Amino acid sequence: MPDADLPAVLVCRRLLPAGRDLLLTRCQIREGGLDATPQELVELAPGVAAIVADPTVPVGEALLEAAGEGLRVIANYAVGYDNIDLEACRARGIAVTNTPGVLTNATAELALALTLAAARRITEAEAELRDGRWRGWDPGDRLGLELSGATIGVVGMGRIGRRYAELVAPMAGAILYVSRSGKPDAEIELGATKVPMDELLARSDVVSLHVPASPETSGLIASAELRAMNPHAILINTARGSLVDTEALASALHDRAIGAAGLDVYENEPDVPPSLLDAPRCVLLPHIGSATTRARDAMAVLVAEDVLAVLDGAEPANRVV
Ligand code: DGY
Repeated sequence: MPDADLPAVLVCRRLLPAGRDLLLTRCQIREGGLDATPQELVELAPGVAAIVADPTVPVGEALLEAAGEGLRVIANYAVGYDNIDLEACRARGIAVTNTPGVLTNATAELALALTLAAARRITEAEAELRDGRWRGWDPGDRLGLELSGATIGVVGMGRIGRRYAELVAPMAGAILYVSRSGKPDAEIELGATKVPMDELLARSDVVSLHVPASPETSGLIASAELRAMNPHAILINTARGSLVDTEALASALHDRAIGAAGLDVYENEPDVPPSLLDAPRCVLLPHIGSATTRARDAMAVLVAEDVLAVLDGAEPANRVV
């Protein structure tokens, strides 16, 4: 079939070759590129049968309308899909898919890395050394939190929260979790205990967030929750920026209401609020939770397979709408 007759897929930003090559076997691709603006995407959209989005691409009425009636699927290159207007897709009969499972290890490992980095103040200690500010071994310098025996609070015991709990369990003294439903497997295998949120905040040395962004989880950790945490406790967020009230977190770090924080996600990425950049004892990463070769390739394959499934009239494996 000549390329022009193949269904068109709008890849809003960039799809790694593992998925791109698969799509190219049966589709033509229009690519926005990493710097594509919403207006440029609207201009590329007319007539596409599928859109590949990612957490940086808001998918709402304007893009759906521009694509037109032939649009059949939005495949999100991520497990989270808070960037997509699900109601608008539902109303138009457009399928929405995501990439669960394949990024679980990568994201949980990054949460563990952030936990260790925040607990031992690794990034600020290295910066001090690199800047030539290190004055030699000092018994009182950069004292951190030992994770051995620590109580770890896992907020959200889905795939990633569960994997994080598994990774941290050999060091932890106790694992507490908050979840809508009980997780008997985690209780039996990891000795985890389901508790109410206020108890988790009061008892934990580390609080790690693993719930999706939604109206219910927006501002989940705000001033009152931070004040309810132990003054030495660490907050880790590898889920979505909207879960944490940024200004309240910056104040809590300045006031020593909590011990440290490790963040991989922000509310208006790629903008990182100056208050966080200036906050002490805070490790900041640029949304790299799923950034391993294995995870990103596997995510790309799921994206392509789900697009092709929908175009074939089959049920995509990872449908959320
Ligand atoms: C996701 O998949 O939702 C991640 O945040 C992307 O790394």
